[in-house]
Parts: sequence; C-alpha cells; structure tokens
Amino acid sequence: MAGLKGFSLHALAALCGVSALGLQKPLSGSEQLPIADGASSPSSKKQLVDSDALQGTIRGDALLARAEELYEIAKLSEDEYNRPTRVIGSAGHSGTLKYIHYALTALGDYYTLSKQPFPAFSGTVRQHQLVLGDKVLFDAQPMGLTPPTRDNEPVNGDLVLVANEGCEASDYPSEVSGNIALILRGTCPFGTKSERAGRAGALAAVVYNYENESVSGTLGAPSPDHVATFGLSGGDAAPYVKKLKNGEKVEATAFMDAEVKTIRTNNIIAQTVQGDPDNCVMLGGHSDSVSEGPGVNDDGSGSLALLEIATQLTNFSVNNCVRFAWWSGEEEGLLGSNYYAENLPEEENMKIRLFMDYDMLASPNFAYQVYNATDDANPVGSEELRDLYIDWYTAHDLNYTLIEFDGRSDYDGFIRAGIPAGGIATGAEVKKTEEEEDMFGGRAGIPFDPCYHQSCDDVGNLNMTAWELNTKLVAHSVATFAKSFEGFPNRTDALDAKANKTKKGPYQGPKLIM
Ligand SMILES: *[C@@H]1O[C@H](CO)[C@@H](O)[C@H](O)[C@H]1NC(C)=O
Ligand SMILES: *[C@@H]1O[C@H](CO)[C@@H](O)[C@H](O)[C@H]1NC(C)=O
Ligand SMILES: *[C@@H]1O[C@H](CO)[C@@H](O)[C@H](O)[C@H]1NC(C)=O
Ligand SMILES: *[C@@H]1O[C@H](CO)[C@@H](O)[C@H](O)[C@H]1NC(C)=O
Ligand SMILES: *[C@@H]1O[C@H](CO)[C@@H](O)[C@H](O)[C@H]1NC(C)=O
Ligand SMILES: *[C@@H]1O[C@H](CO)[C@@H](O)[C@H](O)[C@H]1NC(C)=O
Ligand SMILES: *[C@@H]1O[C@H](CO)[C@@H](O)[C@H](O)[C@H]1NC(C)=O
Ligand SMILES: [Zn+2]
Repeated sequence: MAGLKGFSLHALAALCGVSALGLQKPLSGSEQLPIADGASSPSSKKQLVDSDALQGTIRGDALLARAEELYEIAKLSEDEYNRPTRVIGSAGHSGTLKYIHYALTALGDYYTLSKQPFPAFSGTVRQHQLVLGDKVLFDAQPMGLTPPTRDNEPVNGDLVLVANEGCEASDYPSEVSGNIALILRGTCPFGTKSERAGRAGALAAVVYNYENESVSGTLGAPSPDHVATFGLSGGDAAPYVKKLKNGEKVEATAFMDAEVKTIRTNNIIAQTVQGDPDNCVMLGGHSDSVSEGPGVNDDGSGSLALLEIATQLTNFSVNNCVRFAWWSGEEEGLLGSNYYAENLPEEENMKIRLFMDYDMLASPNFAYQVYNATDDANPVGSEELRDLYIDWYTAHDLNYTLIEFDGRSDYDGFIRAGIPAGGIATGAEVKKTEEEEDMFGGRAGIPFDPCYHQSCDDVGNLNMTAWELNTKLVAHSVATFAKSFEGFPNRTDALDAKANKTKKGPYQGPKLIM
C-alpha cells in the first residue's frame, strides 16, 4: 500500500478494514457483518423516524471528522496526480468508494447495498496549442473529452469558416477537408459540431463564442468522428472571422496531446430493508471530484452528509423505503445518475416517489439556495419538495434564494425520467451579490466557493455552520418522507408528459455542452 504514506490513523483503520476484508471475501450487498448491541437490526421496535429526533442526531464534529478522513483518502492520488484528488479512475476515488461501502456494511442488515457498475469516459489533455496566422491563442481552451490531433502531433492547414452554426452537414464547405474548421457556438451541442467537422474531413475544430467570453465546454460522449476541438472567445475570434469573410487566407496550426479513456466505475446504492418498497424516497450526492482537487465541499459535503444520516437513521424505523445513492462520474457529465435513471425499468421507476439532490452543502461564502423546481416545468411533486426546503428555512428565520434548476447536477436524469426532484446547494463559482451578503453574511464580489474545482477545496473550504444546518435539513427531508407521503402527489406515469416538456439546459453537470 505504497500510496498510504501520511495517512491518518482513523482513515487508515477504516481503509485497511476494507482491504483486509476485500482480500479474503469481497464485500457484497448480501454479506452481513456481526451486529453490535442489536443497534443495527431492522427491528420495528425502534422508534418511528421523526424529523426533530433525526435532526437532533446531526453533529458538526462528526461531519468534520468524516471530512478529515475524506481528505486523507484524496491524498492516495498524490503519486499519480501530484495532488489530492478523487477523480474517477484515481486511487482517491476508489478509496472513497471503499470508505462509503465499508461504513454502510458496518451498519449491518439495516440496508441492502448494491454497486452499479457502468462505463465512464475520462479525458486528459497533456499539452495543447492553437496558432492562427502568426499569433498563439493562449486563451483557446481544449474542450472536455477532446480527442488528440493526429498522432498527438501538431496539424497545419487553412482556417475555414463554417456556415451558420455548423449543426448541419451542408454548413461545411468542401475546403474544410484537410483544414481546420472555425464554427460559431450555438443551436446544437459542441459534440455535434466536432462530429460534423470530423465527417467533413477537418483536422481540428475551433468553436468560437458569440460573446466576448471564453467558452469552456465538453464534447460529451466520445464519437469516432470527433476531432480535436478548442473553444475560443468571440473577441479572440473576431479578427479572423472578419479576414475569412473578406476572402483572406488564415493559416492555422492546432496541437492537442490528449487521451480519452473508458473506465469502469460504480454507483453505490443503499436501501432500507424496512419500509414500503413500492414507495421510496431517494436521495443522492456524488462520490467523485474533479482531477484538480480533493472535492471536500464538492461533493464531500453532500456525500458525507448522506453517510452520516444513513448511519443515524439505523436507530429508527421507517414506514417508507429510503434509498441513498452515491453517484460516480458526476464531474464528467452526470454519468452515474443518468445511467441509473435511464436504466430503471418502468416498474422500478414508479417506485421512486421523488429524488433529492445534495451537491455542495458547505460552501465557505455560502448562500442557502433552493432549486426552483416548479411543477409547471417539472414532474409534479418537484414543487412540493421545493416548498419543503423553503418552509424549513422560513421556520428557522433564515433567508434563502431560489436558483435555476438547469441540469448542473444529478437531479437531471430523474426529471427526464418523469421523477419529481429538487434539492439545495450553497453555491459554486458565481460571485455573491451585495444583496446576498445582507442575507447570508460572507462577502459580496467573491464566489460562493472560491475553491470550486481547485486544489484548495480541502477541509478548510467548509463553512461548518452551513454544513451542519443543511445536513439537518437533509435529515428533515429524509425523516418527513420516510414517515409519510401524505399530501405528496402520487406518481402517475413513468413517461409523464412533464418529463418531455422539460427542456434540457445548456449544462450537463459542471460543463457546458452547447
Ligand atoms: C474582449 O474582452 C477583452 C477583455 O475584457 C478586451 O480586452 C477586448 O478588447 C474585447 N474584445 C472585443 C473584440 O470586444
Ligand atoms: C443509537 O442509539 C444508541 C442509544 O442511544 C446509541 O448508543 C448509538 O450510538 C446510536 N447509534 C448510532 C448509529 O448513532
Ligand atoms: C421559478 O420558476 C418559475 C417558473 O417555473 C418562474 O415563474 C419564477 O419566476 C422562478 N422564480 C425565481 C425566483 O427564479
Ligand atoms: C435576511 O436578510 C435580511 C436582508 O434582506 C437581513 O436584514 C436579515 O438580517 C437576514 N436574516 C438573517 C437571519 O440573516
Ligand atoms: C461560517 O459562516 C458563518 C455565518 O456567515 C460565520 O459566522 C462563520 O465565521 C463562518 N465560519 C467559517 C469557518 O468560515
Ligand atoms: C395516492 O394513492 C394512494 C394509494 O393508492 C391513494 O390512497 C390516495 O388517495 C392517492 N392520492 C391522490 C392525491 O390521488
Ligand atoms: C416522451 O418522449 C418519448 C421519447 O422522446 C416518447 O417515446 C414518449 O411517448 C413521450 N411521452 C409523452 C407522454 O409525451
Ligand atoms: Zn458537485
């Protein structure tokens, strides 16, 4: 276990427990560990879950201890990544999965555990450069999941302007072949543009923004027709677009030293043995981080809140089934949650009464944010869930803001599968406004999470006040629906017309797709 240097005793004990068990007999959902004090038995003699009682078990120091363990686990990736990270495919991520699985296994037979494997894509860009005319475009961004240029070597050609927004094959003039395509952003996903450029014979593609702002997106699921693709701001592209429109020639060199790998990873699902299995309240956070950092707030805060609540819930009995999920591949485009939701047979889909998303609950410059998931634009029940959060903040004399429900986290696949969903968050890269400073404290003009997707998303990047409070709200949401769905709309149809009405936003996870 060479990667374990500097590992804390606590985390080491947890992981070694897993490894030792794992060597002799792989952990599986059906396997049960000895039960201590009968505390973990699904016996119905336990007190029926109650919101105040479950909230009362939530303690900031227990959460913080878990965050410290998670950071030590992220350090397992240092040898390979030169920094702590829990990105899919890393030692830090497999350590995270073991940690979650081990903690749940220790709860005995209160839950049925399962692992859902699925293929995920992981992209790396080692080097990149775009040269137009005699100028190096330092601000050109490689698109996520871009393939390399041929043989991972620079390619040269003319820059060729594509008609319209490059969404149709007919937008690509024959000169694109053997050259580099310049395509305006908009109308269709970046992946479609790259694919069209590739089919037209382009050596590489550059997607430029309609605004004078850089564009950082992803091509999404790899296609054999994708070519190396850059994003460029409208301002940077403007002089070249003008030259090409005037019939002038622009030489271009593109270099992308990149790799896209398919790896197998897995979601972890824990469902109470007790409770009506035909009426489940489901909730999830994501187990992975980006490669840039350890992801202690994103989404250690959500995934550990779930683990703590799953632990505390074992002292209670439930009327309805409670199903916890730890998604993988969220940062690569909601891969795990989409895979799960898309592969639910209709009968299973209908058993999920609602899905609650908990991603980033402890941002250091936080706001209390509630997804504005309304019934008119989402499966019916989403708005009732939204109002549960609003009512709780209001009852605690706390301010909250409503934020866009635009596909940036793991609720997206559920909404599209006709399942009501919602959630809360505390903010990512967006800057806090003056008004929000008055509402929540903290500092205006600074991002809610200044360490979002960076190496400093460590244990110091948590606001414990927000984390503890939001974890109590998560406990409230679990307890409320584990006790009763009274007054909550029934599911009507897995292919709810609302699911079709739901427009897919420009985001798929953290990245723009179009
Ligand atoms: C684009 O924005 C940059 C930085 O704000 C500015 O320097 C540049 O002049 C702008 N370019 C255009 C074409 O507006
Ligand atoms: C359950 O309650 C018992 C008795 O109060 C307590 O000792 C135990 O730690 C609790 N279990 C969990 C998982 O918190
Ligand atoms: C919430 O969404 C509804 C439509 O679904 C919209 O009418 C309303 O303005 C939104 N509220 C906020 C605060 O964004
Ligand atoms: C809520 O926001 C208002 C300003 O809109 C502020 O005066 C008040 O103190 C805030 N309440 C809390 C609990 O922070
Ligand atoms: C967390 O936020 C609260 C409220 O804004 C603030 O009083 C506290 O100092 C913050 N804690 C940390 C560790 O930043
Ligand atoms: C929901 O379904 C339950 C059980 O089938 C039924 O008793 C209840 O009346 C239904 N509620 C609504 C609002 O339709
Ligand atoms: C929703 O869309 C899917 C596929 O696009 C279609 O098969 C289904 O019939 C639609 N459902 C409704 C209720 O419109
Ligand atoms: Zn996240």
